[in-house]
Amino acid sequence: MFSKNVLKEIIVSNEEFILKQVKRIVNRERIYFPEFLNKTVVFYGVRRSGKTFILFNLFRKYKGNSLYIDFEDERLSGFHLKDFDRLKEAMIELKPHLMDRELVFLLDEIQNIEGWERFCRRAVERENVKVFVSGSSSRIMPFEIHTELRGRSWSIEVLPFSFKEYLCAKGIDVNQKSIIYGTKKAVVKKLFLDYMQWGGFPEVCFLRSELEKKKLIKEYLGAMFFRDLVERYSMTNISLLDKLTDKLFSSFSLKFSLTSFYKQYTGRFPFSKDSLYRYFKNYLQSMLVFEVRKFAESTYKRMRNPAKVYLVDTGLCRRVTSADAGRLLENVVFLALRRRGYEVFYFEAKRECDFIARTENNSFLPIQVSFELNEESSSRDIDGLIEACKWLDIGKGLILTYDDEEQELNLDGVNVKISPVWKWSIEAHIG
Ligand SMILES: Nc1ncnc2c1ncn2[C@@H]1O[C@H](COP(=O)(O)OP(=O)(O)OP(=O)(O)O)[C@@H](O)[C@H]1O
Ligand SMILES: [Mg+2]
Repeated sequence: MFSKNVLKEIIVSNEEFILKQVKRIVNRERIYFPEFLNKTVVFYGVRRSGKTFILFNLFRKYKGNSLYIDFEDERLSGFHLKDFDRLKEAMIELKPHLMDRELVFLLDEIQNIEGWERFCRRAVERENVKVFVSGSSSRIMPFEIHTELRGRSWSIEVLPFSFKEYLCAKGIDVNQKSIIYGTKKAVVKKLFLDYMQWGGFPEVCFLRSELEKKKLIKEYLGAMFFRDLVERYSMTNISLLDKLTDKLFSSFSLKFSLTSFYKQYTGRFPFSKDSLYRYFKNYLQSMLVFEVRKFAESTYKRMRNPAKVYLVDTGLCRRVTSADAGRLLENVVFLALRRRGYEVFYFEAKRECDFIARTENNSFLPIQVSFELNEESSSRDIDGLIEACKWLDIGKGLILTYDDEEQELNLDGVNVKISPVWKWSIEAHIG
């Protein structure tokens, strides 16, 4: 049986830490959950994206009746499922006035406790406890969650900072009109270029020098490879892992075909087709890489065409030259769409359109991303967008660029809106 006194010490010391030592927490967007449904809220996502800080912020929100526990805390080694009841007792003994009140449990790195889903279910459904959990590994992703909690959890994907969150981290008031129309616009545009280059990992955003940023991103990658890929999925063919990583991380916003990869590298070092497919799947599960499928009527057709790949953060992109600005921008737009929870496809017929986003109300919006609309690119991009609109029988499409003047055109019966990404990212609506 776990010592109640140790639990009390941990509860109190964590409370002090969160309230006194953690200085500034940037509010995250879209942390929405229904307060009145009895569900365990699960935050999952790539390492270092800010899950623990979301729990810290919730601790402040529910100050007084919440407790925060990190199951990677070495003082908790030996804690088992059956000890959860003692956690509640310890809390009530510390704060007796909470006896019949609702409690809020914020449980970090929960995957370390075997059977945690059972406790969450009981606590939420029968014991008047709100439960929020988080963890670093894919073991708490929706598809891995134990049947015990299926239909009883509310999962929220946490990605690195959006551009709006990034601006907040930089001390910019995102509600001020001057950031779009006035004096601050130039600063915001410059920050957008930095954001595109270095991405939105919160800690990276707070660093000033490029050297430090590079070093930290490298450390992140090292930890992610080792802990999430090599250890967790036993990806022990290091030559294959290295080559696949290099290829994926330099193919952002491009089509990526496992068959071509196989053809290109088979014979150069030992690996099997099966292990290649498995490694790629592991990559998707680690949430470092996402794939976008071609828009097609049937699943069969969707799966037969190669997917396009995007990285979870543009700071991870490799082999980026100035010619790749358009691809970086496209990756930023992909992440913005994903943050909004939209399902995303790419379109390809005679011409191409980067995204078709399925929005909340199940309508589709074709989106073309282009760093700038010059004579050469503009007719190709516009034609691709119009083709996608016609194909879907939709009267409107969106072109996002780094900094073209905002305007609306009527082309071939389609309403085409052109907007700079930095502005679009700050606004609430996508269309
Ligand atoms: N909302 C935020 N406001 C300010 N800083 C943040 C915020 N979110 C994250 N950070 C910074 O980024 C660091 C990493 O965030 P955090 O520990 O919350 O990530 P995590 O997703 O829990 O990572 P891991 O998966 O490794 O546990 C924090 O230590 C903090 O410095
Ligand atoms: Mg954490």
